[in-house]
Parts: sequence; structure tokens; C-alpha cells
Amino acid sequence: MLRNIFHSNTKKVLAAAIFASLLQGIVIAAPVFAETATTGETTVTQEPTQSKAKAAGMTAAQPDTADQKEIDHSAEFKPVQNEFLKEGEGIPGSEVPYQSERSLSSEEWKTIDSLEKDIRILRREREEFFKNRAKEKEEKEKAFTSAFKNRQEYSIVFNPDDYSTKTMDANGEPVTFRAYEHLVYVKKPYDPESQMLSIYIPEAYLKGGTVNGFTAETAPIFMPNGVGGYMPGQIEEPREESRHGGANAALYALSNGYVVVSPAIRGRNLKHENGYETGKAPALIVDYKAAVRFVRFNRKAGRIPAGDTEKIISSGTSAGGALSALLGATGNAKDYVPYLKEAGAAKERDDIFASMAYCPITNLENADMAYEWMFHNANEYYNAGPARRVPPAVNSTSPAGAVPDRPANAPAEAAKGTAMTPEQKEISAELKEKFTEYLNDLDLRDSLGNRLNLAPDGYGLFREYIESLYLEAAQNAIDTGEDVSKTPWLTVSDGTAVHMDFDKYVATVKRLKGVPAFDAFDMTSGENNEFGTYDIPNKHFTRYALEHSQLVTVPKEEEEKEIAEEKARQYNLASPVEKRQLRKANLEEQMEKDKLDLSQYMANGRIIRMMNPMRYIGNPDVQTAPHWRIRHGALDRDTALAVPAMLAVKLKNNDKAVDFKVAWGYGHAGDYDLPELFAWTDRICKIKDKADAILKEEQKKAKAKEQE
Ligand code: DHB
Repeated sequence: MLRNIFHSNTKKVLAAAIFASLLQGIVIAAPVFAETATTGETTVTQEPTQSKAKAAGMTAAQPDTADQKEIDHSAEFKPVQNEFLKEGEGIPGSEVPYQSERSLSSEEWKTIDSLEKDIRILRREREEFFKNRAKEKEEKEKAFTSAFKNRQEYSIVFNPDDYSTKTMDANGEPVTFRAYEHLVYVKKPYDPESQMLSIYIPEAYLKGGTVNGFTAETAPIFMPNGVGGYMPGQIEEPREESRHGGANAALYALSNGYVVVSPAIRGRNLKHENGYETGKAPALIVDYKAAVRFVRFNRKAGRIPAGDTEKIISSGTSAGGALSALLGATGNAKDYVPYLKEAGAAKERDDIFASMAYCPITNLENADMAYEWMFHNANEYYNAGPARRVPPAVNSTSPAGAVPDRPANAPAEAAKGTAMTPEQKEISAELKEKFTEYLNDLDLRDSLGNRLNLAPDGYGLFREYIESLYLEAAQNAIDTGEDVSKTPWLTVSDGTAVHMDFDKYVATVKRLKGVPAFDAFDMTSGENNEFGTYDIPNKHFTRYALEHSQLVTVPKEEEEKEIAEEKARQYNLASPVEKRQLRKANLEEQMEKDKLDLSQYMANGRIIRMMNPMRYIGNPDVQTAPHWRIRHGALDRDTALAVPAMLAVKLKNNDKAVDFKVAWGYGHAGDYDLPELFAWTDRICKIKDKADAILKEEQKKAKAKEQE
């Protein structure tokens, strides 16, 4: 029957391979005329995608199927239509004449009937299979829900009478403030210890006074988070001594008249005593949003005695910087609402005024590619294995062979490098190339409207932009009298930083991480741990790592596509009987493939998206913060500078005010420039207050005029 289908030798070979694999029941995917079955968490079959980068699953890790309960057969048997092929016409360039169903023999009709019957049976079986799997999942979720059904409920009504008064020394100046401490900020916490916050209010406001030009009504609300390494974040209490000397950010803020709200936040390693994980993505952003809502809810009702909820400013470093950026980007986004409801968060807005981020470890879906684009030429990496706690204190004892003074919970850094293997270099080259596709799809623009893009070789305006950021940092250092002469990658001419040697830069700062930097093939990274679920500790979050996983064998999407296209071609050329045979074979093959439940290895596409601020900026139904301050140390290589740079440019392109700079002399760190940071927050707050006052005055005038 199949003998006449193929008209070229190459096709014959490929087709033979496909048929051999069909016969052996080898698992190969056929997205083009696949039975797209969707179940609870993820689908096995990828949706058609617009670009190569997307096709490789680099951006949309999995199609969004969270809400689809029904089995969707819509994509079933829809071969790619060759527009030259129309029913009843011969096939151009082929010896196969179109065989009309009218000309079939009764023998052939018999075969068709029998095949159709087989197909119906298989389809029913398949539906049954998915129903059962859905049922299993539902049961699991029920068990999870009931394990937490009786969790303790808390009031989220703030009690203004329960506080202590403290006085601390903020860089030589006494600051007296009220501390309202350890208040659970959701009604139904999964982990009360991690879902509580403390509020600190300058005492002056309680006596009608002003601080730094602010009053109880106008005082901005500073909301730092203490998240690092995607681990649980502690409440940031005001402290007189910090890593960078002097008052920490919370105390510094108080001394400058800010109301401080410090939430603790759930993190990736939290486990309830009942055995369930409670801190996996998107827990951290749900908590930060819930804390914002708590403040609005209680301040608007007059229970919290000071602070302007229209001037909430978030801040964080590294994973905490990523969290701060996510909060800033996703104001009031609907995606988070079910989670907020589940936790019993106050019904309030969660958009904020300004977001500040130091070295944000963000855009995790694309950070592996960005890392290789920058660090491909480095032949050694210094990662000392999976993330672990390294005490942040000076003179602390670090694990043998590890570099001290890394931020708490950041991956440990080894004192000695590990050589990249040829295989790792190959992966690196592949990821590097894919980065240019992702980047170009973003369509980022500089201030003149030029596209910040890259050629496939990795060169282009975006690279020049990245270089300009390092050069600007060097120039600032020169202008403040720093000696930059020992910087091997920098050329200075007459006091001007004129050139950066990218390769020398990479050779100097070296790569911290192996490849991929974030989504590890053995699932041992902190980020794999972050993307786990309540019952599975670690998962992949990029299609690329899934396809290279050491824990599961998944067909490569590019190959799948090729095979699918060939199958579609065959289908078009097939006779009516052959068409049924192909459908049956394909169905059987799909059913074999269904047995692999990819959702056990790959994070839910919706959750991956909910962790990425890039996905929300510019969405019309999201209130992204209007003000941003982003810093990345010139020596930082926990993530590529390209990551915060893309964030900053996307924000600018969407009309947000962004202060984005590379900080000279700093590695992976935060809070090293508190005077500048609070000068910036003062400025944006005072401009807003002035603008608001003018607006109010105008409105008053307009009203008065109306009444005349
Ligand atoms: C942090 C650092 C990392 O390198 C990383 O991958 C995740 C988090 C951190 O310091 O928070």
C-alpha cells in the first residue's frame, strides 16, 4: 500500500526510519497531527511556536494548560496543509494521482471500516487513560489540601496598641521608633514563621512631627525583603551594624523618615512536618504581595498610624532582587489571585510605587542562554556545587576550599576552578546561539529607537550596550578618584574610559557557574529546587535542560518537528486506506508516549511565567511600578549583566523611569550604596508629592470654578 508514496530517495530513507520506529513503538512525537492531550499540569506536546527560539522551548517552557480540564482533541489530525494541494487535484511533481474515496473498492472500504473501528477504540482507551491520570492527580491534590485543612487561622487586623519603642544609633544619630513585630500577614498561612512581618515607624510621626520633610501622611513605606538563594527570607530588623558598615537599610530608612515594613517570605526548602513542601514557586511572590496587601488594608483603615501606601518601595538582593523586580513588574496581575486567596491575603491592591533590585537573579527561563552569551569563552568555572549556606559574617569559617563572604544562601564559590569539558563547551555554544534569538524577539530599543539586537555570532548593538554599561561604571570610578589602572580589560585615555575588551573581561572575572548556569541537567541547582512542587522537590524550568536531563529522556523538539513535518507530508500523499493506517499508527505511538508524565520533571508553564517579571511588563491589565533602580556589580558573574540589562531596557521601552547602573568594584552584593539609594527614593517621593499637591490644587481650582 505504501509503495507509491515517496518520490525521492532521501524522503524514502527518512520515511523508512519513521515507519520502523512506528512499528517498534518507539516514542517519537508528532506535534503536527498529534493527539494533543492536556492534563492537569503540563502537556507532552508543544504548541506550534512563532520563532526558532520559542520552538526550542527557550521562552515558553510549556503551553499554558492549567485551566484545561477537558481532553482537547482539536489538534488531532490536522496535517500541515500544502496550499497547492486541493482535494480532487493531482499532486504536483509526484507520480501519485489523487485517489478519490469514490473510486475505492469494496475490499478497501472494508479495510477502512476496520481501521476506523480500531481508531475509535484506541481513542476511547486514550481518553480513559487521561481520565485516570487526572483522577490520580486530583486525589493527590485533595490529600495535600486536606493535610492543610485544619491549619491555624490568624487575624490580619493590625493592632495599633501592641508595640515596643526602641532607640538605635543610625550612623551616629539616635533614631527612636515603634516596632510592631511578628504579625502574620495572611489569614491561612502554610508556614506562619515565614509569613509574618514587622512594621517600624519613626516615633516622631506619632507625635505629629516631621522627618526629612515627610509627615505621618506622606512618609514612604520601605519594604525590603531578606530573600537569598531562593531560600526563606527573614524579617529585616533595623540593625546598627551591617556587612557594608553602619546602619543596615531598615535602620537607615527609619533615620530618613521612612516607615519600614519587613516581611519574612517563604523559600524553596520549607517543608511542613506533614512532609509537604510549602515554599516552592510562586510562594515567595505570593507572600510579598500578601504583605503589600496587609499594609494597604490596615493603613487605609487607619489602624497602621503612618505611611503613604501610594509610595511603597521594595528592595532586595540577588534572589531577593529578583523578587523585588517581580513585585514591581506584576502589580495586581490576575495570575496570582488564586494563590493569594488560598493563603487568605487581604483583598487589596498589590501594585507598588518603586522597585529596587541589586543583582537580580531573574528571568530564569532565559538566564542560561544569557550566561553563555557572556561567558562562553571562559574555560573554567568556580562553582562549588549546589547552593549551600555560607555564613556571611567577616572572619566566618567557610567550607574548605570555598571563597568566604558570599551572600548567605548564594551558591558557594570554589577557590579552584574546574575545566569545562568539550561537551560542556558544546552546550555552551548552543545556548549562546539561542540567546540571540530570544534577545532579538524582545525587540528592545535604545533611547534613539535603535534595535538592541545581536547577530547569530553574538555581536551587535546589544553587546555594545553591555560594554557601554561597564565603561560608564569605570568612568564614574575614574571621576570619583578611584585607581582603575589595574583593570586588564579597560583602556583609559586622558582620564576617559574609552574601550572595554569583552574577552579579557570574561578572562578576568571568570565564570562562576558551570553549564547550564541555572537549570542543571542533574536538577541540583537552587533554581531547580525553587521550581519543585509540594510533593516533588526539584524540576526543570527550561525545555532545553529537560531535553538534556539526566533524569528523563525526552525527544528533542527540533527533531520532533522535523519528523512531524515529514509525517504530515506522508499523510497528504497517502491514499484513503493509508491515511487510516497512519492515523492508527500515530495514535498508538502517542499512547506509548503518554505514559511519560513530563509534569513530574518540568515545572508548570504558568508558574514559570509567574516567576518572570519580563512576562508582565507592558501588559495593559498589570500595574507595573513607575520607578525602578537596578544595580549589578562590575565583578558579578552569578548571572550575566545581560539579564538585568534586558529588564531595564524593557522597562524603559514601556515608559518606566529606570536608574540602571553597573557598580564599579562590586561583585554579587547589595545595599553597598545606601546614601545614594535613599537620595534616589527621596527624590522620586518628593517629586510625586509635589506633583500630587499641584494636581490637588488644580482640582480644587477647577471645582471652585465649576461652583461659580
Ligand atoms: C543567588 C545567587 C545565585 O547565584 C543564584 O543562582 C541564586 C540566588 C543569591 O545570592 O540569592
